[in-house]
Amino acid sequence: MTHHAIFSEIGLGMKTTKTTKVSAAMRERLLRSARKVIKNAYAPFSNFRVGAAILTSKGQIFMGCNVENSSYGLTNCAERTAIFSAIAKLGPELEIRAVAVANDHGAPCSPCGACRQVIYEFGPRAIVFYQGEKGPKQSLITDLLPEGFRLK
Ligand code: THU
Repeated sequence: MTHHAIFSEIGLGMKTTKTTKVSAAMRERLLRSARKVIKNAYAPFSNFRVGAAILTSKGQIFMGCNVENSSYGLTNCAERTAIFSAIAKLGPELEIRAVAVANDHGAPCSPCGACRQVIYEFGPRAIVFYQGEKGPKQSLITDLLPEGFRLK
């Protein structure tokens, strides 16, 4: 048995298959969009302004910012704002290829658990660009959210 066959059999080759490639230029464009929309955030309670940009399978970019509320738990994160805005414009056929997240503190900030599940719903193979503990980072949504939930 060849090495390739062995790796295929135990599934090591599976991780990158069907993952969308996003160029460095597109990654920078998405991050710029995420940074640009930070200024629209409504974050008087945390003072932590976040911007997000998503890239659809058709190449469109949608942006969103966090929208907080006096009833704290009603806060909508930047990532979900971007996704819901895309659905409002395009309808439910949205397919997310990539997500970029930025904040006004230059602080480590990956999508929260709720946003990971929402990203997964529309982009099970999406790649996420964000600020990690040691600098800019990218992860597949399936690495951020193993065993994501799907009804179909
Ligand atoms: N927040 C986001 O919008 N996205 C993230 O990835 C992390 C957290 C927001 C929610 C809240 O308005 C503020 O950041 C502080 O948690």
